[in-house]
Formats: sequence, structure tokens, C-alpha cells
Amino acid sequence: MLIKFKSSDHIGENQVTDESVYHNRRDMLKKMGFVGTGALMAATTPSRAASLSLFGGDQAQGAVNPNLKALDFSAEKSAQALGQVQTPELKATTHNNFYEFGTQKNQPSELAQNFKVNPWQLKISGHVENELTLDYDDLFNKFALQERIYRLRCVEAWSMVIPWIGFPLAELIKLAKPTSDAKYVAFKTLYDPEQMPGQASRRIGGGIKYPYIEGLRLDEAMNDLTLMSVGMYGKALPNQNGAPVRLVVPWKYGFKSIKSIVSIELTKRRPKTTWNILAPNEYGFYANVNPDVSHPRWSQASERRITTGGLFARNRIETLPFNGYGEQVAHLYKGMNLRKNY
Ligand code: MTE
Repeated sequence: MLIKFKSSDHIGENQVTDESVYHNRRDMLKKMGFVGTGALMAATTPSRAASLSLFGGDQAQGAVNPNLKALDFSAEKSAQALGQVQTPELKATTHNNFYEFGTQKNQPSELAQNFKVNPWQLKISGHVENELTLDYDDLFNKFALQERIYRLRCVEAWSMVIPWIGFPLAELIKLAKPTSDAKYVAFKTLYDPEQMPGQASRRIGGGIKYPYIEGLRLDEAMNDLTLMSVGMYGKALPNQNGAPVRLVVPWKYGFKSIKSIVSIELTKRRPKTTWNILAPNEYGFYANVNPDVSHPRWSQASERRITTGGLFARNRIETLPFNGYGEQVAHLYKGMNLRKNY
């Protein structure tokens, strides 16, 4: 996020984004014959054992899940029907921010190729009655997987439209049974400098203090939009996109969507977060997408939507408050000064 973009492209009137992809999409799926989550689930995970073998194994990266193909296709169609052009898979998997594998956009897809994501352990701890450790297979089998098309808006003022596969973080938190002391949720990425060259070298990793850490307020974490993602485009997550499990918080700038998570801790106090530690005047704890509050180096009034038009195509669109998800999340910030709490 240290790279500057020119902001000379102007906004095309025909390129304004839609309001609420997620709920509209549910209506779309109904119209297209998927009735409710149950049917969606049936299409996504025919059985625990089947989904395990389709997703799992050492070859998980980019593994094709035939049972998701129909859904993948419908996702593309429904994205288009909603006036969204889905970002091509190749763009979403080669234009990445994952500083553990380099600060250049093309580096993670190259340097993360041999990253081992199985076996994996994700620990849920802190102010909970029921500490949990999920292994690799649990990530794909313990919860009903859903597909959700979300916009991903980076603070660098580019955005994508991505069909994620995952489960609501709320389901995992409920399983851990937070105590009344739990007010926040702290996340941590794997620390393994032998596998992650950016953690071993300041030059490659941009001088961040690793492991990468992030946090949410408990009510933000429990919001239905907050997704633990294990896949995209009908396949398991590629390593460069945060395999085997990452967070997706679509109304916040992308840096909140922490990748390759090994720890989720329920805390009493607000957790520290990587970018806020690095530059507190630039990156706040909340990081809600807000066109009215500019980053010192990037206006947030508009964004470059990465679609088929090429990296430098004139596809600049207006940025919406909460990235267009205000209906679902604005109530979480009622009465708060969003200029101060950026
Ligand atoms: N998580 C970790 N561990 N390390 C990172 O460098 N970058 C963040 C976020 N999660 C990052 C991370 C940023 S700045 C963005 S915009 C998104 O991941 C990018 O996700 P993508 O590469 O899948 O588009």
C-alpha cells in the first residue's frame, strides 16, 4: 500500500455500482431455481465426504470442484444481471496484496506457489467458554459453505468483484461461545519466515512487523456479511489469495481482510492492527469504506474497478459509503464520528 496510483481517470456515468449485491443475489438465485440456503448448500456441498475430497488434499490450490461449476456459472450471470462485471479470475489471482510474499502485485502469485496450507491449524481462544482448534479438513466440512459475490475495495482505490466461498464468521464464534468479557476479535496470520520470504526480509516484505494482525469489534464480526473464506471462483483459495482461510469484510478496506489465519482471539480490549501500527494517521482501526474521508495519498471518492478492461482501462466508478453495504452495516456505527473513527 505504499505505491501511488494516478487518479486522472474520470467517472463514467454508466459505471456506477449497485446497492446490495448480497441480498439481491439471493433473489436472483431464487429466480434461477436455487431456493434458499438449503438448496444452495446442496449444490455446494453434496456431502461432507464428497466436499472434502473435492476441495481437500495437498493439491487444494486451484483444485476444481465440479459440483461448484454450475454455481460458479450462475454467480457470473447474477453478477452481470446486477450490473456488476465480475473480475476475471486471472486478475484476482495475479494482482494481489500479500506482503508476506512481496510488496509488488505480481509477487504473491509467484512466491506463494509452494506455500504449504495442509496441514493447518486455526485456533479460537480468549474470552470463550469453548476453545477450539480447527484443522484443514474442518475448514471445509464443519460449516455449510456458501457462495457470495462481494466487492473488494482496496484503500489504494482499486476494486474487484469476486465470488467467494466460505461460511459466516458468526457461526464459528457462536461455536466458541464468547463470554460477556468478549468485546473484540483479534486475528493473526501464520508466522513462518522460512515459507514467507517477506517475513524473512525487510526488502521483500516492506518492513511490516510480522505476523500480520487485524481486528474487528465483536458486533462487526457477528454481522452476516463477515465471511471466513476458503474458496473463490468455485475452487479452494489460491495461496496468494490467503489459503487456506481468510477473512472477507466487504464494507471495509481490503487490508482488514486478513489472509492465511492461524489465530482468532476474543478479547476485552481493542486489538492492535498491522497497518494502524505502521501509520496510525493513514490507516484506522475501523477502515470502513468512506468516499468522504480521503487517505493522505489517495482520494477515496472513486475507485478503479478491475474488470476485463485491462489494468489501466478507464473503468473508474464512484465509491459508495460502506462500499455499498450501508443497508446491512450502517447501524453498527450510529452516533459515531466516522471522520475521527476512520
Ligand atoms: N493479509 C496478510 N496476511 N498480508 C497482507 O499483506 N494484504 C491486505 C489483505 N490481507 C494482506 C492481507 C490487503 S492490503 C488487501 S487489499 C487484501 O488482502 C488483498 O486481497 P487479494 O490479494 O485477495 O485481492
